[in-house]
Amino acid sequence: MIKITINGAVRDVDVDPDTPLLWVIRDILEMTGTKFGCGAALCGACTVHLDDQPIRSCSTPVSAVGDGKVTTIEGISGKATQAVQAAWTKLDVVQCGYCQSGQIMSAVALVSQNQSPSDAEINSAMSGNVCRCATYVRIRAAIHEAAATMRA
Ligand code: FES
Ligand code: FES
Repeated sequence: MIKITINGAVRDVDVDPDTPLLWVIRDILEMTGTKFGCGAALCGACTVHLDDQPIRSCSTPVSAVGDGKVTTIEGISGKATQAVQAAWTKLDVVQCGYCQSGQIMSAVALVSQNQSPSDAEINSAMSGNVCRCATYVRIRAAIHEAAATMRA
């Protein structure tokens, strides 16, 4: 039995320690907002926060979480989250939506830590999140918008 703290709750999960965190989140805990894309740390669809830092849950064994706090798209909250959500809505960022949970998790981590990101810093922070609908221009604009909200 492995104990993990996720979205503020301590959960016991009966899985092999090598089980990817993504499968624990989706299949055991039935939180399906976090998506499976590549399974190889290449697309970012599975991005969650571990102690407020974005990680790829598809390539993180559940045993590696330890005492860290996992946050998924279902559990994020606070000023940066509200700013990102409002900017995403205002700029109508989403197309098919499949990548967007991961995009938002990376964006929230970025604007929490950097409230005046340059285009280059945004590109760097978001480089691990692929969007097959190519919403990159709107994502970058929305991150600037969210950062401005954080500065206000
Ligand atoms: S599913 Fe994890 S990075 Fe693609
Ligand atoms: S909105 Fe479709 S993959 Fe990004």
